Amino acid sequence: PQTVPIPGPPGLPLVGNSFDIDTEFPLGSMLNFADQYGEIFRLNFPGRNTVFVTNQALVHELCDEKRFQKTVNSALHEIRHGVHDGLFTARNDEPNWGIAHRILMPAFGPMAIQNMFPEMHEIASQLALKWARHGPNQSIKVTDDFTRLTLDTIALCSMEYRFNSYYHDDMHPFIDAMASFLVESGNRSRRPALPAFMYSKVDRKFYDDIRVLRETAEGVLKSRKEHPSERKDLLTAMLDGVDPKTGGKLSDDSIIDNLITFLIAGHETTSGLLSFAFVQLLKNPETYRKAQKEVDDVCGKGPIKLEYMNKLHYIAAVLRETLRLCPTIPVIGVESKEDTVIGGKYEVSKGQPFALLFAKSHLDPAVYGDTANDFDPERMLDENFERLNKEFPDCWKPFGNGMRACIGRPFAWQEALLVMAVCLQNFNFMPEDPNYTLQYKQTLTTKPKGFYMRAMLRDGMS
Ligand code: HEM
Repeated sequence: PQTVPIPGPPGLPLVGNSFDIDTEFPLGSMLNFADQYGEIFRLNFPGRNTVFVTNQALVHELCDEKRFQKTVNSALHEIRHGVHDGLFTARNDEPNWGIAHRILMPAFGPMAIQNMFPEMHEIASQLALKWARHGPNQSIKVTDDFTRLTLDTIALCSMEYRFNSYYHDDMHPFIDAMASFLVESGNRSRRPALPAFMYSKVDRKFYDDIRVLRETAEGVLKSRKEHPSERKDLLTAMLDGVDPKTGGKLSDDSIIDNLITFLIAGHETTSGLLSFAFVQLLKNPETYRKAQKEVDDVCGKGPIKLEYMNKLHYIAAVLRETLRLCPTIPVIGVESKEDTVIGGKYEVSKGQPFALLFAKSHLDPAVYGDTANDFDPERMLDENFERLNKEFPDCWKPFGNGMRACIGRPFAWQEALLVMAVCLQNFNFMPEDPNYTLQYKQTLTTKPKGFYMRAMLRDGMS
């Protein structure tokens, strides 16, 4: 076939497009390039170039695991300084990925997640109690309180470890260290090759942050070893699990890598999801009303129960639509397994890194029509959602792809449904600033920036 070159901004010698990317908000720069160049564009960084694809058709093609696989070059390569070949950052062919995947999958299976419901509920109640005590005059820093919630939830449910974040004004040092570690990992992956001393200060901070993360995880592991437990949770699986295929076990170092991986991957994204969901609900009063009505109809005024979770169809649609417009992991990386042609006309070589820009492909008008940019949960109701995914495969990918897709999806889903239900059942919410327009804070994941709300207790709490 006739091939055409992949377009992209010219960049500068040596540094390529490094200075074309806003270090505070890299996603914004990528979205601007997508608007400028369309379905595909190439950016050059020192030592590598990445091809970005931005519509459903190309994303779908690159989700074919026969031709493409997860790549860990860019930011994930830098994150490996902290967590090595842990589940998220391992290359497909590294033995520790398979071992950890097979050992940890059962710990996150449907039954295991359902058994975590009471502990998820306990942390959600702590959040509700805090907001009830503070009353309607207190301004709620939404992302911070949801971050407390999701960090405490993943640690309690999967490791029986209590961060007790609601009992501290300051966030746990893990949170700050994690955020700057993730931001710096992104920056390192794009920075020009200047002499090492130019980076000595940020490098020192980078390794200090890694130390905080590892010490936190070591604390979790030590605490379990000192107080052995009968619980069948993730940490037990890490300590006792034997890989059915190789007979291999996870070393202590590998356990630390994976504890940090789960602490990070298990809370950042869900906290972002909940925060964005409230931004959207408060901007869309009609949706808000429907969501609250569903909670009232399904749950009444009593305690929220596990069996309600799969009855909250509208809330599920709200969450799906939130992840469509605001995918908290807005981009993932793959590479080609062979020399190939994509989109019928773009030639690429084996090993070419690609970025699947979900933040743009989720807005593809070919899939979502001319209301693609609107928040409209109706299109994500169960039947519509199924139809969309059948007609336009891979049009909604917030949990990633294939064998490297999110292991925590059922966990995140149950947690998000529960928290939405607890919040809407007990409170009426108001935005602090009715004119708030969505802005992003980005580490590797995205969250809304500067978003505050107030919570008024409805009649009685459960
Ligand atoms: C992988 C999204 C919640 C643990 C992924 C990937 C995405 C994703 C896009 C693939 C990354 C890639 O291809 O490079 C999300 C979203 C979440 C969420 C949007 C919440 C709304 C969670 C939770 C956990 C978790 C709660 C842990 C309990 C992981 C792990 C991987 C992963 C360990 C790597 C899996 C592997 O490569 O085998 N997630 N995630 N995630 N996620 Fe999640």
